Formats: sequence, structure tokens, C-alpha cells
Amino acid sequence: MAQDTLEQLLIDRQRHIAAGATTPLPTQYPVNQLAAALHPETQYLKITKVVTHDATARSFYLAPDPTKGTQHLAYFQAGQYLSVRITIDGSVVTRPYAIRSAPQSALNDEYILTIKRVPQGFVTPYIFNHWRVGTTVTASAPMGTLTINPLRDQSHIVAIAGGSGITPFYAMASAILDGTEDADLTILYGSRDHHHILLGDELNAISTQTDRVHLVNVLSDEDYPGYETGFITADVIRRHLPAGPVSVFICGPDALYQFAQKELTAFNLPAGRIRHELSGNYGDPRQAPDYPDSPANASVQTFRLTVSVRGQTQTIPARADESVLTAMERAGIHAPSACRSGECGVCRARVVSGQLFVPNQDDHRRLADKTYGYVHTCLAFPLSDCELDVPVHALANQFG
Ligand code: FES
Repeated sequence: MAQDTLEQLLIDRQRHIAAGATTPLPTQYPVNQLAAALHPETQYLKITKVVTHDATARSFYLAPDPTKGTQHLAYFQAGQYLSVRITIDGSVVTRPYAIRSAPQSALNDEYILTIKRVPQGFVTPYIFNHWRVGTTVTASAPMGTLTINPLRDQSHIVAIAGGSGITPFYAMASAILDGTEDADLTILYGSRDHHHILLGDELNAISTQTDRVHLVNVLSDEDYPGYETGFITADVIRRHLPAGPVSVFICGPDALYQFAQKELTAFNLPAGRIRHELSGNYGDPRQAPDYPDSPANASVQTFRLTVSVRGQTQTIPARADESVLTAMERAGIHAPSACRSGECGVCRARVVSGQLFVPNQDDHRRLADKTYGYVHTCLAFPLSDCELDVPVHALANQFG
């Protein structure tokens, strides 16, 4: 390049620099701000209202707590949950609770959680005793995949629910009613008797306003006019199955899932058409069809679990019928967790030694994790003394 051309280039460059704006470059871009708004690591919330449905169920209305840094609530998809973090007697525990309000409620900075008290539970009695208007609550961003995805799911969803497992479907019904979701929904809802139907009046009100939501109550302990009696069997499902292809979503206690899954075999649905989420912890692993069948496992044993977290190593007792996550929480170890259903991977840990049982039908681990000896601690049950290493990156995923 000739010398005079080079000099002219430098002159032009200086001129452009001098003519440029003096305002500093942005340090935050709109796309990053949107990502932070949709996926905050932690949401600080405050209870604004409590509604008592009956002796065992309450709805908690939550708003952002700006004094702790949450200005607005993250948007969500109907069917997602919040993982709520609570410290009880020195143990830090998390519980996933489905957001039962419609997604549009988040745009008005409100979530509603409807929680059923588990009589012998660890967390729900604490919530019922301590959560009042004004109580602050720490929660994750909305999480979970029990949502309607038109690329994956059929446009008619058959929802099988038990107990508080109705809450994600309540959100879906609300979202269908207000036009947020474009789907049809048939809800088969199992309750003990008509007095124990959670959100029954509210669901009836929705189904009378749209012909896209159909509600079928199934009462196990009562004959009641207009309702099905018994359990959600293949016959009951067949009576209310719409014409055309469906996706089946199941949400409720583990026993409901085990039962419904057996009944659904009569319909030969492809595996991807049945999706589920537990409400509550996984049940007794010894009832799983692939639990090792040996006399040594006939009674509940307690093993020694050695856990390394951030360079700290502790040895704690771990019962064969409880997940190692529960064992860690019981011992006061702040273990990462969110969904407690084996699905999200937040609780992932490496098995250094020992044998753990992972129920095959709920095993959502990646192939590499299975190959290299990682488990999801919420869905891993000791079969021997064990040693686990909880990686730091898993802890980093823990909100808060
Ligand atoms: S907490 Fe989600 S996989 Fe264990």
C-alpha cells in the first residue's frame, strides 16, 4: 500500500473516531436483560394473601419482594413449578409446588401456590404453621416440563391427577380459557369424596365457560351423582377418552402414577405420549418392579453414606427406603435439589463407591451420567454403604 494512501486511511480513521458518539458502550443488552427476567436464579417473594380451602389445603398468593431485589415475577408456562427453599430446624430443604394461577398472573406480578398439608410430612406442616401474609419466601425461577408443547404433544391433553396434582392442570385450564394455550384438556381427577375435591368449584366454573376443558371427578370412597366411582382405571379412561390422538399427562403422588401407568398399557400409547410429574417425593423404592429381589432387602436397612460437598466430608445414616437426598437433608447438609422427581438434574452427584438403586421407569439421567456413575440424589436409594461426591457445579445450579 502506498505511503500516502496509508496516511489518508489514518486521517480518516481519526476523523471517524472524533465524530463518533461519546456515550459509553452499553454494559447490558436487551436480550440479556430479557434472559435475566425470564430465568432469575432466585426470586424473592412475599405472601400477600392466604385462602383456606379446607383443613388440609390453602392457597398462598405471592408477589415480588423488591426490598430483596426482585422487582417483577418471571413469566412461566402453565404446568411449571417453583422450587421453594425453606430452612427447618437447621435443615435446608426444597419443595416443588406447581404454580396454579394462569401464566398471565405473572404479568401482574402474582403467583398462586395451592398446597395440601401432608399430615406426617416434614415441610407442609411447617408451611401451614408459619406462612402468613407478609412472610417472605425464597424460590427458584419457574421450572419443569409438564407443559403443553405443540411440537411434542398432541393438541388434546388427557390429564390424570390426584390430590394437589391438580394444580398444574388448573393452570392449564385457566390458560386455555384465557387463550394463552391452544389445546383441549380432559381432566380425570381422583379424590376420596366430593368434600375433598381441591379447587372443585373453581374448575367447574372454568369448564362451564369453555368447551375445551372437560372435568371428570373420580371418587374412590363415595357414590356421588354425576361423578365416577372408584379409581382412574382403564375403563374410566376409555369412557372419557376423546376421539383422535391424545397426550396423557399424570401428576399426583407416586402411587397414582404407578397405578395409572399400568392402566394406560391397555391403550398402547407411544412412550412419548405419556408424561408425568410427581407431587411429593418418590414413594417406597422397594415397590418398584426392578428393585433388587434379595432377602437382604426384605426389611428397611440403614447404611452409612459418606458425602463430600465443597471439600467437606461427612458420614451420615441413610435408610434404604429414602433417597440419599432426603438422608442429606435430614443430616442438615445443604444439598442441591429442585424437582425431586429425578428430572431436572440439579441434584446430580458422582458415586465414588457403593451400590444405589435408581428406578428404571423414572430414570431421566443422561447416558453419559449413567455410564460414568452419576446419580440424581432425589431418585437414588442406597443398597449398601456408599460414598458420594456432590460436584461444585451442581451446587452452583442451586438457587439462592
Ligand atoms: S432434584 Fe431434580 S433431578 Fe433431583
